[in-house]
Amino acid sequence: MKNTFSLLLALLCPLFGKAQPIPVYLDDTQPIEARVQDALARMTLEEKVRLCTAQSKFSSHGVPRLGIPEIWMSDGPHGVREEISWDSWNAAGFTNDSCTAFPALTCLAATWNPEMAALYGKSVGEEARYRRKDILLGPGCNIYRTPLNGRNFEYLGEDPYLASTLIVPYVRELQKNGVAACVKHFALNNQEKWRGHIDVEVSDRALYEIYLPAFKAAVQKGGAWSVMGSYNRVRGEHACHNNLLLNRILKGEWTFDGCVVTDWGGAHDTREAVFNGLDIEMGTYTDGLSKSRDFAYDNYHLAKKYLQGLQDGTYPLATVEDKAARVLRLIFRTAMNRRRPWGAFTSQAHYDAARRIGEEGIVLLKNETPRRSRAALLPIDTTVYRHILVVGDNAVRRLTEGGGSSELKVQHEISPLQGLTKRYGDKITYTQGYAAGRPRYGKTEEPTIDTDSLRRAALELAREADLVIFIGGLNKNYQQDCEAGDRIQYNLPFGQDELIPALAEVNPRMVLVLLSGNAVEMKWVKKIPAIVQGWYLGSEAGHALSAVLSGEVCPSGKLPFSFPVQLADNGAHAFDALCYPGDSIHEVYKEDIFVGYRWHDTQNIPALFPFGHGLSYTTFDYGKATLSAETMQEGDTLTLTVPVKNSGAAAGKEVVQLYIGDVESSLPRPTKELKAFRKIDLKAGETRDVTFDITADDLRYFDDARHGWVAEPGKFVLYVGSSSTDIRARKTIILK
Ligand code: GLC
Repeated sequence: MKNTFSLLLALLCPLFGKAQPIPVYLDDTQPIEARVQDALARMTLEEKVRLCTAQSKFSSHGVPRLGIPEIWMSDGPHGVREEISWDSWNAAGFTNDSCTAFPALTCLAATWNPEMAALYGKSVGEEARYRRKDILLGPGCNIYRTPLNGRNFEYLGEDPYLASTLIVPYVRELQKNGVAACVKHFALNNQEKWRGHIDVEVSDRALYEIYLPAFKAAVQKGGAWSVMGSYNRVRGEHACHNNLLLNRILKGEWTFDGCVVTDWGGAHDTREAVFNGLDIEMGTYTDGLSKSRDFAYDNYHLAKKYLQGLQDGTYPLATVEDKAARVLRLIFRTAMNRRRPWGAFTSQAHYDAARRIGEEGIVLLKNETPRRSRAALLPIDTTVYRHILVVGDNAVRRLTEGGGSSELKVQHEISPLQGLTKRYGDKITYTQGYAAGRPRYGKTEEPTIDTDSLRRAALELAREADLVIFIGGLNKNYQQDCEAGDRIQYNLPFGQDELIPALAEVNPRMVLVLLSGNAVEMKWVKKIPAIVQGWYLGSEAGHALSAVLSGEVCPSGKLPFSFPVQLADNGAHAFDALCYPGDSIHEVYKEDIFVGYRWHDTQNIPALFPFGHGLSYTTFDYGKATLSAETMQEGDTLTLTVPVKNSGAAAGKEVVQLYIGDVESSLPRPTKELKAFRKIDLKAGETRDVTFDITADDLRYFDDARHGWVAEPGKFVLYVGSSSTDIRARKTIILK
């Protein structure tokens, strides 16, 4: 009997025992589109709708029944934010989430080095992967339109070409970790004042030539898997559900196949959320559990209301099919991509990356020989300067904290003072000089100590010092470099404007280091022989800064935005309140395409320090530029060659910049626009030919009447420069 049974089983088991084929959606050898369709076919309507809504502060639903995981997101562009609570903005209190803080994105922009952008994306992507995040909420690439924007430090400067060139490697390398970039804030979120509702009006030309290119590059060349809608309105509709931005441009013209995620609480209208391109609605106001029930997740626009609308025919089923397909695609690219690597967290490689990006981004603005001295102050010569006084709150302040959602809980942050003390030991003494309040989100906090005594002490000590290094600038306090508020003054806060010239009066051998993400007014600039724009440098701040000040690293950063002498010299501030900050309802970008150096050039208003400016400890001579041809037509490629020589005594890196100007055009155009750049590393005495290939694409402008890019025949000037105003070679070409 027993034998018969086992025989029977042996005969039958191939039928039953045959390995069940795994469902296509679970089979990651299948093409993603097949997996998406298979998953959709198995899902209920409720399950499709739930994919479009938050389940907690930083996660959105999966499909538990089918084993399709949730999506976990985290800020931010400069590192992986500490774990946030399930339903509040409070920290979750984890002890395994102290991260590496990379320099702020303005510093990355100032490197003008796509290799640094790739290193950045790879490193921060590994940290996000290790922390099991599926979406990193960054990078941001809103154009720097005004020096008062509280969040400029999170972005890539004033020029669309520079921002476009650097955002692509960041996104590509980040996503190789199986973590989605979430390029933000799409679009026209160029200020924090009234950010939640201000309705921005801008011409199509400025939209397409200035404000869209970096997003377009991130999507089309970077392959970004998600985009975050911004809080503001654009032409009357909230950007998080905006037909022009999301349906026509992003998903239409750019054929974006990823997910549009709201900024937190950025959805305001169910019908628009359904029809105008939104895919995942994330929120701010809900605790999901008890209070503020009216914002609980189920009451979100793309939740119960949406489901009811689908069931009663108000909303076509095709809308949720498209949204769910996009969310599933993102899940298959991230959480269900079993081939993705495992990441790394706070590794030495990441600290090295943070330091290198910082070193390459620091900009030497000025380096002159002060009176009664024989040489420029930088790099620091310790045979001459034996008693170095460091002054300033920013020498010791933690600048990875505060600033809003890009804040970080770090494993370590080497302050400038720590970096300098480590390098120079007891040659260094420190005094605070001035006091800034604590980084308070949403309010300013005046310092409580007696700032006069700080100032008097600093002046006393400066008298005896061989060299003074003042480390100041802005910080991450509210209405400084901080989210949810703009700066309320262009000049430096906390009494620095008085202290800086007073110190220089007492001791002319003074180096000024500004740590900030924005330009500032410098009425005292003539009195300061050496000025360094130091950015927010993250965990390795002190190491990067002391490496450059000491000459171990030769500075090679270039400004990614202009420093206007005064605020009124900036295009956004040259008109009226409607132009900036708006009338609290509407805002009109009246400077149009003339943003940053485009404004300075066209209006003939010299900047204090121009876009693309940055000095070195060596010098670079540019030879005669030559052209492969003087005329070209559509389809041709013309090559410009310029020999560049390191004519100084130290090895160094130079950013050779190519700007192109259209001599005659039917529509107004800037005098010149950045169209290419090369960062080259030259030993002392070395010469290298730098070449640029130019096509008609580099000559085009956006013709809003034809809704297309046009290169008009005629004369164009090619400017090769070490900055946007330091032009070293110039050639003219004719487009036939
Ligand atoms: C914030 C920011 C956005 C951030 C999000 C989540 O309001 O605008 O950049 O990613 O909410 O913190």
